[in-house]
Amino acid sequence: MKSRPDQPVTRRAPQSEARYQQCFNPDCQAVYGVDEAMFACPACGDLLDVRYEWDRLEVPPSLAWFEQRWARRDCPLDFSGVWRFRELLPFCEDEHRITVGEGQTILQQNDGVGGYVGSEGGRVYLQYEGLNPSGSFKDNGMTGAFSHAKLVGARHAACASTGNTSASVALYAHSCGMKCTVFIGSGRIAYGKLSQALDFGAHTIQIQGDFDDCMRRVQQVCRERDLYLVNSLNPFRLEGQKTIMYRVLEALRWEVPDWIVVPGGNLGNSSAFGKAFGELKELGLIDRVPRLAVINATGANTLFDLYENQSIRYKDGRVDEAAIDGYYAKLNAEGFRPNTVATAIEISRPVNLKKCLRALSICNGVVREVSDEDILHAKAAVGRYGLGCEPASGASVAGLKLLRQQGVIGADERVVCILTGHQLKDPNVTVRYHSEMEAELSNRPVEVPNEMSAIIEALEA
Ligand code: F0G
Repeated sequence: MKSRPDQPVTRRAPQSEARYQQCFNPDCQAVYGVDEAMFACPACGDLLDVRYEWDRLEVPPSLAWFEQRWARRDCPLDFSGVWRFRELLPFCEDEHRITVGEGQTILQQNDGVGGYVGSEGGRVYLQYEGLNPSGSFKDNGMTGAFSHAKLVGARHAACASTGNTSASVALYAHSCGMKCTVFIGSGRIAYGKLSQALDFGAHTIQIQGDFDDCMRRVQQVCRERDLYLVNSLNPFRLEGQKTIMYRVLEALRWEVPDWIVVPGGNLGNSSAFGKAFGELKELGLIDRVPRLAVINATGANTLFDLYENQSIRYKDGRVDEAAIDGYYAKLNAEGFRPNTVATAIEISRPVNLKKCLRALSICNGVVREVSDEDILHAKAAVGRYGLGCEPASGASVAGLKLLRQQGVIGADERVVCILTGHQLKDPNVTVRYHSEMEAELSNRPVEVPNEMSAIIEALEA
């Protein structure tokens, strides 16, 4: 557990570097080099941040400066939707940077989904991260983590996963010649994702337990066996995930939207988005930050409970740890297990909770919970009107619909929903919805005898 040193401990990174890792705990703030691989502060056990002394680094004069990179698509780092913004995540040099062509994702303005949530035309956008090479937003983070792994000379990566992380880790490990082991919980992984991890050659260990159990174990295993941890506890992953927001701004001609709506699981994305906007504001590259809405599934709603019901806040890093520990003790005592159709976010002990609270503070955020049913209907709307997505991504559209109903988000506000994963990640859920649910957008296949007359009849029905 975390301890609180009596005196602030400030250990400077080697040669007082312009880039370093720093403990999140305001009573510790220990500093470490970027060339170290640690996934918790060795002094107090808290989360680590990647920090920059921007005045000692070359920062572009405006966001539009990055447009020159579009003309150099033959250069893999300029092509990458992550590394074309490398001046904003300058923790390593080009020689360490790994890319498989991630981040070629699009921002789709979508009036069909806009109508579904009750917004005016032209105000709702979908940022489709399912277009990444492994089919989810995770590739943005993995390119950061694996570049850091190269910097520190790591040979074997490991993660716990609800599926997408394992697929992405397996792809990157395989493409840069590292070994990888992925830990998954029993029975709660969508087949699209498991099939990818197996196909990419990941050593796959299924633990009898859920994601939270896997997360605890993988940290122990990484400490004991000196493996390189690639879950979002790894702060270099979050550096990569900041770029999702840079691409949103890029697609809006560098205008800041009113809201970003994102599903919340382990809370890596929301944490990274808050850091991205905080840094851009600090650098004077934007003049305001958007508001942030993080959406939990009702069956895995720790953040919603703590933020909205118990009013737990960031408070400059002095988060009420006793209240959080008490909350988890209660979950343990009740034998609570998270449960949602959106298995990607079936997580009750989100490791980035405190960083997400910081993001909510930077972006004047709100948190909501949405039912499985609402997630499925919203997912069907994205399928019918947009590019399709997996269930967890549907949570962001369901969350926007709820926030519109509550009047928290106005009909004329410009909103970006993050679609975190591809439509084909979890086909079972989609087929079940369309075959078994009676809903406005459900689309049941029609079964007929193998006879021409019956076929024609079905065709004309
Ligand atoms: N959406 C999808 C499709 C995901 O796979 C995940 C997380 C999330 C949302 C939640 O994102 O953790 O940044 O809040 N999936 C992880 C995994 C946990 O193992 O694949 P977050």
